[in-house]
Order: sequence, then C-alpha cells, then structure tokens
Amino acid sequence: MSKPWFEEIPVHTVETKHRRITGRVPAPESWPLLEEMHRYEPQSMGGQPPVVWDRADGFNVFDAQGNKWLDFSSGVLVTNAGHGRREMVDAIVKQAQHGLLHSYCFPGEPRIRLAKQLCELAPEPLKKAFLISTGSEATECAIKLMRTHARQSNPKKDVIVSYTNAFHGRTLGAQMIGGIPALKDWISHHDPAMIQVPFPDGFRCEDTSFNLFEESLARAGVEPVNVAGIITETYQGGGASFAPPEYFHKMREWCDKWGALLTFDEVQAGFGRCGRMWGFEHYGVVPDLMCLGKGISSALPVSAVVGRPDVMDLYPPGSMTSTHTGNPICCASALASIDVILRERLVENAAKMGEVLHGQLWKQLKPYDARIGAIHGKGLVAGVHMIKDDSLTPDKELAHNIVWHAVGRGLMLFSPVGFGGGTIKICPPLCITEEAVIEGVSALADAFADCLGK
Ligand SMILES: Cc1ncc(COP(=O)(O)O)c(C=O)c1O
Repeated sequence: MSKPWFEEIPVHTVETKHRRITGRVPAPESWPLLEEMHRYEPQSMGGQPPVVWDRADGFNVFDAQGNKWLDFSSGVLVTNAGHGRREMVDAIVKQAQHGLLHSYCFPGEPRIRLAKQLCELAPEPLKKAFLISTGSEATECAIKLMRTHARQSNPKKDVIVSYTNAFHGRTLGAQMIGGIPALKDWISHHDPAMIQVPFPDGFRCEDTSFNLFEESLARAGVEPVNVAGIITETYQGGGASFAPPEYFHKMREWCDKWGALLTFDEVQAGFGRCGRMWGFEHYGVVPDLMCLGKGISSALPVSAVVGRPDVMDLYPPGSMTSTHTGNPICCASALASIDVILRERLVENAAKMGEVLHGQLWKQLKPYDARIGAIHGKGLVAGVHMIKDDSLTPDKELAHNIVWHAVGRGLMLFSPVGFGGGTIKICPPLCITEEAVIEGVSALADAFADCLGK
C-alpha cells in the first residue's frame, strides 16, 4: 500500500482494566476505511488521531479490533453522562418505536418536556428555553437576541463584545465574535460593532482586573451605552481558563448599569463539566442568557438558548424557529442524559474527581514543569499548556507528540487546541472513577516521558 495520508500512532503495548493496545494503531484492517474517508470527506475532517471508533461505553472507547482506550476526551466534551448509557439507548429506542421522529415546531411532548427541564435546572431569571441543534446555532441566536433587545431602547446600541482567543462555533456570526484571527481570515467584511477584548486568564493575559475591560472598550472607541451585549465562554475552551470571580461580579454590575445583556456560552461548561451544574456558578453571578450544547444530551445533536423570558419572547410566533428545533429523538436522549446526571449525582462526582484529576496532574507532570506554562481548569476539565523552553511560546509540536503517544498508550485524547495549538485538553466523562483518573494521568505522564525523557 502507498504511504497513508494519516500519521500512524506510536504504539506502546498495554493491557490493564481500562486500556488494551495490542497491535498497530490504526489497526491495518481499518486502513481501507481511512482511505475512503480521505477520498470522500474534506481533509478538514482529518485532524484527530486516526483511531476508527467502533463503539464506546461509559468512559471507554473501542476499535473493531479489540483495542480499548480510557477516554479523556468525551468525544469533544459531549458525553457527560458517559458513552452509550443504557438509559439513553432505551429512551432513544422507545421514542423511535413510539413513532414520532420529527415534529418541526408543532407542539410535541419531548421538546416541551426538555424545555421545562432546562428551565427548572436554570437559576432565576433564566426561565424560557429555545431548542435548536448545535452550539453555533445557539451562539448565533444569542447575538441576535442581544442586538434585538438593545434596539428596543436605542437603534444605535448594537455593539457585541466578546473575547480574544474565544471560540463560539464555526458559522459566520459565531466566527465574527470568535477571538482566533486565523479562523476569521475568510471573512472579508468584519462587523465593526463586534469587538474582542482580552480574556483575564492570568496567564496569556496577566492583568485580571475589570479596568482592563473598560480600558479596552475605550481603546476601541466604544461608548458603554452602545454595548448591546457581552458574550463569553464561561471558561475559555481553548485553555480551560477561568477568569477571577470578581471580574464577573463587576461585569454583572456593569451590564446592569449600561443596559447590556450578559451571555455565558456554556456549550462546554454546562451539565456538570466543571463540578457545578453550570460553570458560571463558580463566578457567583447569573447571566441574562446562556447557550447550551454538547453535554446537554451526552450524544445526539441538540442545543439551547435559555434566558430571561422578556428577552426570549422578543420574536413573534414563527420568527425564531429552526427546522430541527428540538427533534423528538434528540430530546429523548437529552432528557435521559440529564436524568442520569441527576440520579447518579455526576455533578458532585465531577467536583470530587476534579480534585483528584488536578492534584494528579500537578503531581505526576511535575518533572516536566519547565515545559508546562500553566494547567488550567476546574472539575473534570483541564488544559495543560505546553510551552517551548524558557519562553511562553506555545509548543504545538510537543503537544501533538504527547497526544499521539498517549493515544498509543490507550488514553484517548483529541488533538491539542487553544492558543498556538499548544494545549492538551483533558475532559473525561463525568462518570469516571478515581482509579481510572489516576491511571489516565499516569498514562499521560508516560507519554510526556516518551517525548521529553524521564
Ligand atoms: C464554547 C463553545 N461554543 C460553541 C461551540 C460550537 O458548538 P458546535 O460545534 O456544536 O456548533 C463550541 C464547540 O466546540 C464551543 O466549545
């Protein structure tokens, strides 16, 4: 066979309770499928370690050849309740067999039940929910609602403020408010009323004071009164980076003073990921709108905007809708996933396992701290920021090699993300156990040793 388009994984044979790697990865039997992938899908789909996922269960992923990975990816922070949960499979099958696969915006029980469930889980005043399909659709909708709300009081009030290095999805509006310049190169006409300010993560941006926000607006020539809304990921996904709570206390006051809406993009942070049901609980403030996705269903595509009823009701009947709004099967999957999260107290488990995860990362990766700029995150999300020697330059190549070696040791990770592509992201399903967390971090430490020596 000619040279494959993918980079083979450096394999380290392993057999434990949670990991089994016995042959080449990807397994030679899967190479023809990978060749078809290359032929029929855009190359943009080829950015992940080339393991052909065959099935997944709880916090394990399997290929068809019997290799088994301990999952530190949750897909991409989706499978909060765990992969392939029986309760979810049953709910999906039951809904399918009941005989309603689609219902558009006609009233239907699964959608209405999910909207109610989200409103019951959300704090006051977030008491109406609009269901859609993807995280990008949710952030686009939040932009629209923030501007529409502002226009009611002043047609010139239209500025949307977001953050440098932010990611809110890949559609036009979501990329315009995103803060990663390389992703926006293709956009020829940038909206001058969408601006980004530095995110106070204390690492890439050392100044974590709220003054920086006000100064950045002034530098951009923006009058506070013209700000329609602010949207931020609760933690920046690229680095698992949080801001200090005081920053958002001041932000909440600032929004109330200037009549701007505050939106937290909880697409990654929601449903227990950070050891609280909502990531913003770590800040002790409540937004006017929140965007949900990923872990909302632990599987099928569904997303939501949940917000203040006066804002959610801005559009008249028929004018804020979507073809697949709250698909019955997706809603059944989401309801079952939320039920598992609540019944098994997975939010509490994420908090507890998060302590173990962060403690273990600090301990087991200590020998490599000269190459680690920061380890960020809370609960069951962590970002290990790899840097080049004696500088803060992100080390994309090193991060990539570590991920490839980790996968070769039976630890599933997705490709590095974040600033300069140098961050290794860790985000297991929330049903993970202490013993598995410790084993996973030790496999990661072994991958560090593969790349940097003991
Ligand atoms: C914080 C955040 N917002 C929005 C999105 C976009 O979600 P989707 O890929 O479902 O459109 C993502 C996806 O990674 C995300 O992490």
